[in-house]
Amino acid sequence: MESKILQIHSEYLKKITQADSLSKLDEIFLKLFGKNGEITLIPKDFGKLEKGELTKIAPQFNKVKVEIEQAIEKRREEVREEHYKALNQEDANLSKSVEIKKRKGHLHPTTQFEQETIELFKKIGFQQFESPQIDSDYYNFEVLNIPQGHPARDLWDTLYIDSQKSEADNKKLLLRTHTSNSQVRIMEKYIPPFRMMSLGRCFRYENIDARHEHTFEQFELIYVDHGLSMANLQYLSEYFLKAIVGKDIKARLRPKYYPFVEPGVGIDALCMFCKGETHLQDGQECKVCSGTGWLEIGGAGMIHPKVLENGGIDPKGYSGIAWGPGIERMMMLKYGINDIRLFLSGDLKFLEKF
Ligand code: FA5
Repeated sequence: MESKILQIHSEYLKKITQADSLSKLDEIFLKLFGKNGEITLIPKDFGKLEKGELTKIAPQFNKVKVEIEQAIEKRREEVREEHYKALNQEDANLSKSVEIKKRKGHLHPTTQFEQETIELFKKIGFQQFESPQIDSDYYNFEVLNIPQGHPARDLWDTLYIDSQKSEADNKKLLLRTHTSNSQVRIMEKYIPPFRMMSLGRCFRYENIDARHEHTFEQFELIYVDHGLSMANLQYLSEYFLKAIVGKDIKARLRPKYYPFVEPGVGIDALCMFCKGETHLQDGQECKVCSGTGWLEIGGAGMIHPKVLENGGIDPKGYSGIAWGPGIERMMMLKYGINDIRLFLSGDLKFLEKF
């Protein structure tokens, strides 16, 4: 045992002196003092020694142990100092620029799409109008021919705001459920004929799935003039869909009830995932259109005479078109996106594709 202790002493003192980094010193420390380190194991055999031997070897062992510990600590200090010295000798030119890879950001795809849409309609004389995202029951429902208690209110799962300021029911505040809250505001402000557009966020207490979000964007056209008809509405629809989605888009207008238009239509596009087949190639029902073959992109119609009146416009002299598609649904069609939840996911893999 005595020779083993002496051998450890000489071998490791040499290694310690030669170690030129803190990590090498850590390695040496572990080899000696770790759980099964050479120094850790030695006292475990002390029981095998005779008493006379033990009184001679134990102090010798302790001396070697302390010497090695001190040698490691001393060498650590030296290595640190050598390191700082080397750093100080380096040419520390702080004005030197370092090449950092810059990541370029861009506008959110929805914003890009909206800007494109605005430009498209500006070309045919539509002017932009802002309406509030937090609005009153009055502009979101009442003036649109949807009074309190009207069953059509169930068409919109509304998020109301608990506000003490609104005593009357029609002043109750809510998160707008659609951009149709702009309709009467526009009529109050402008004298017909006019062509207006309004777009932005809408909110609903919605069951979320591949084509429904609680927060989404809508686009609204309000066009009031003499003698407008469903033919003008159909033209606007086609103009938009062909310009934005492409010439090959297949769309249909089907009768749909909205209390603020008469007649009212739903605008559907042929589902781009199952191509109207209702099922995918693997036999699964298409989740994007729920197996109907069509994806609803918006609602539209001839503005109801009562709504024109609410906005101070004589329905005998003027007629109006209201047209309101969902922005994300249009983008799903244009880019082949199969889940609306991607838009607000913040997923960079998705955003970087635009
Ligand atoms: C409306 O909101 C009417 N204001 C549209 C309208 C305007 C009708 C003018 C007549 C005249 P609707 O609830 O159907 O209607 O929604 C219109 C479009 O908004 C839908 O076709 C869809 O594209 C989009 N949309 C509605 N709810 C959601 C949702 N939860 N998530 C994503 N998009 C939605």
